Formats: sequence, structure tokens, C-alpha cells
Amino acid sequence: MSAKVICVTNQKGGVGKTTTAVNLSYYLAKDKKKTLLIDFDPQGNATSGLGIEKNDGKLTATMTDVILGNAEITNIILPTKYKNFDLAPTTPELANAEVEITGMQRKFVRLRDAVRKVRDGYDYIIIDLPPSLSLLTVNGMIASDYLLLPVQTEFYALEGVAQLLESMKLVMKQANPSLKLLGVLATMYDKRTSLSGQVYSEIKKYFKNLTFKTTIPRNVRVAEAPSHGVPVGAYDKFSKGAKAYKEFAKEVEERTK
Ligand SMILES: Nc1ncnc2c1ncn2[C@@H]1O[C@H](COP(=O)(O)OP(=O)(O)O)[C@@H](O)[C@H]1O
Ligand SMILES: [Mg+2]
Repeated sequence: MSAKVICVTNQKGGVGKTTTAVNLSYYLAKDKKKTLLIDFDPQGNATSGLGIEKNDGKLTATMTDVILGNAEITNIILPTKYKNFDLAPTTPELANAEVEITGMQRKFVRLRDAVRKVRDGYDYIIIDLPPSLSLLTVNGMIASDYLLLPVQTEFYALEGVAQLLESMKLVMKQANPSLKLLGVLATMYDKRTSLSGQVYSEIKKYFKNLTFKTTIPRNVRVAEAPSHGVPVGAYDKFSKGAKAYKEFAKEVEERTK
């Protein structure tokens, strides 16, 4: 077994990266794929969204320690409540660690080095990245086989995307030639407005068959789930959001065969 590694990237905040990382991981795991979600955003929303809180004692070591070389990734991985679904948690201190590693050797490949140590134990490793084109994001791209780009279906959806693709190209040229764009996922699709449809068409025009067929609807259950510390599939599996993420996970499996 050698995991397929997918980073979830868009330097815009609030487009559904973390939501996608958590719910994709959940449904891959539910389909019996052994999955590790690495929270690599100092905001730690994937960690808290899975019900793991900074002060509850479970977080003795996190990705912050791993990236500084103070802990092995194997020692910080936690099981979630769900079968086949593990989490490598983080804390806000990851932001300080990013500054620290800027002056260290191998600053671009620290996450890749860590991922290599656990690759053989998983079918999928999903990396949730911060809303920036920072050193953490570059680490994420270098550690991955695939880049997954969630795009919010609203005005300016594709703003910044060209710059992101430039960064991706640079990473491919300099450090990770095998990185591929897995696809573009339209999130928070609101079928009551014509805008969502227009933006989705625009995405398809630009990305053609790299656009996922599944779109994620704007759905209140999706937004509520993290405050209960669970993926939407565990919160309300009959909701439109849960069904969409389940479909999406199938498409991801199909594309990574
Ligand atoms: N499909 C959706 N429907 C409703 N709310 C959503 C949906 N996807 C994400 N959200 C909400 O939008 C906000 C931003 O999503 P998030 O995944 O944290 O974005 P990012 O990680 O890109 O910053 C969160 O409050 C999240 O709960
Ligand atoms: Mg996020």
C-alpha cells in the first residue's frame, strides 16, 4: 500500500477547503479506504471540526512539532471516531513554526519527509492547507501527488486561481514534477441563483474535464456539523451536503485509480 496524497488548496479563505478535506476523508474512510487527514493550517479548523480541542489533553504533540523536527508524525496521529479515519492534528503555533523553519535546512520538504514515513500505512492522505501561497502551502504541494482546488461558486470565484496555478507550475519544475491537478470542485453552489450556474459554466469553460461533475450545494447542515465536532455525513447523512460529498468522494476514487 502506498497512499495517494492529495492537498486541498486555494489561497482564498472561506471557499470550502477544510469542509472538503474533512468530508472527503470521511467518505473515503467509509468506503474502506484507510485515510489520514493532515491538518496543515494553523487555524486548525479540521482538528476542531473533528471534535478535538486544543485544551482537551489529547493534543500533546501536533504537526507543529513534526514540522520543527521535535516529534515523529507516527507519534502524533490520532484515531477519529470513525473507522479507517486518522487525523494528524495541528495548533495555532504552526504559524510560528512556519517562521522558524524559514531559516532551517530542507524547509520546503519537511512535510514530504513526514508524509513518506506514513505513506505505506494508508490508501489516501489528505492535506488541508492554509488560505495563502505560503511556505506551508509549498510544503503541501511538494508532499502531494495531486492538488485539489475547491472554488466557491460566486463572483470572483476564479480570482487568484491563475496565480495558484503559477505556483503549482513552479513547484512542478523545481521540486515535484509528478504533481497533478486532480480537479476543480465547485462549492457552496446555490441552485436558486443563476449566478452559481454561470460561475460553474465559467469554471467548466476554463478547466474542461478537470471540473468535477459533482457540485457541493450550499447547505446549512454542512455548516452546522463542525460545531458538533463531526463530518456532515455523521451529522445528517440524508442532507444534500452529505450526499454530495459522498458522490464527490466516489469521483475522487475514480480519478485516482
Ligand atoms: N456547502 C456548504 N454549505 C454551507 N456552508 C458551507 C459549505 N461549505 C463550507 N461552508 C461554511 O463556510 C465556511 C468556510 O468553509 P471552510 O471549509 O472553512 O473554508 P476554507 O477552509 O476554504 O477557509 C465555514 O463556516 C463552513 O462551515
Ligand atoms: Mg480552512
